Amino acid sequence: MAIKRVGVVGFGLMGSGIAQVCAQAGYETVIREVAEALLDKGFGRVDSSLARIVKSGKMTEDDAKGARGRMRGTTDLADLNDCDLVIEAVIEEMSAKKEVFGTLDALCPQTTIFASNTSSLTIVEMAATTKRPDRFAGLHFFNPAPVMPLVEIVQALTTSEETIATLRQFVTSLGKTGVVCKDSPGFIVNRLMVPYLLGAIRALEQGVATVEEIDTAVKLGLRHPMGPFELIDYTGLDINLHVANVFFDEFKDPSVAPPALLKRMVLAGRLGTKVGRGFYEYDEKGQKKPPSTPTK
Ligand code: CAA
Repeated sequence: MAIKRVGVVGFGLMGSGIAQVCAQAGYETVIREVAEALLDKGFGRVDSSLARIVKSGKMTEDDAKGARGRMRGTTDLADLNDCDLVIEAVIEEMSAKKEVFGTLDALCPQTTIFASNTSSLTIVEMAATTKRPDRFAGLHFFNPAPVMPLVEIVQALTTSEETIATLRQFVTSLGKTGVVCKDSPGFIVNRLMVPYLLGAIRALEQGVATVEEIDTAVKLGLRHPMGPFELIDYTGLDINLHVANVFFDEFKDPSVAPPALLKRMVLAGRLGTKVGRGFYEYDEKGQKKPPSTPTK
């Protein structure tokens, strides 16, 4: 089956990146948010990302305009009823995701493929609530989606081989590399990354080194583009806490139990770059200020 028109539900950090990538690849892309103000915010993010790509010489101004012209915002899920593929990128709560897919299931033709961008929830639990569990999969993008070359294609117990083949083609058409994996907590990347990030917080709790020293060690010793605390701030402390809870619930393994410091920082509202404060502090432009982190 060929995908021509893509729907994206949720125009936050991930949804806006995913929608932009689809439009850049030539797909007509319809994006649904719950309010006009959130659509405006999402389009603002897309515009600055496109401007960045044009500035770096990787895209012409005309191509950026073309991509932007293929994107249409709506507050009505019914406007996604003629999409061949719908990618959900709403809040990481099973009830919210089930509600979206329940409504879409009644609106979209049986041929439409549904995909969730969840990073931690179980795909089959969403798929089983629809009448198309065979045409339901995970499509997990990485932040920033316009830059990161990987997409995990998650095959639930119910997902058909035909759906996986279509999604493989789709991901390739976006200029990304797709890897197929099972519907297991954290898929591939988060399964490996989360214990590492939680280990960094535990090292900090135990006084091994400061936030900056740990980040510097990982960047220079492992050539990672970001240190673990920069990455936790970037992806969100609340998201990392949520994933750790999901992992611990599934594996009962102490290496993925959420560290006390992470819980306390989330309770204090230090959610990372998006609020200007996490392990580091950030100015209005998202630039890092010197750290002021609790180490005890
Ligand atoms: N849109 C378009 N282009 C962007 C961009 C965006 N939002 N963000 C960065 N770029 C581009 C820049 O324009 C720049 O392009 P050029 O090289 O052509 O000039 C390039 O990316 C590098 O950016 P910068 O020079 O500004 O900064 P940098 O070199 O520090 O790179 C980074 C920034 C790409 C984010 C890099 O630090 C990085 O790769 N970090 C790791 C990110 C990562 O690990 N993401 C995965 C998180 S896990 C996840 O998402 C899954 C989950 O479930 C939580």
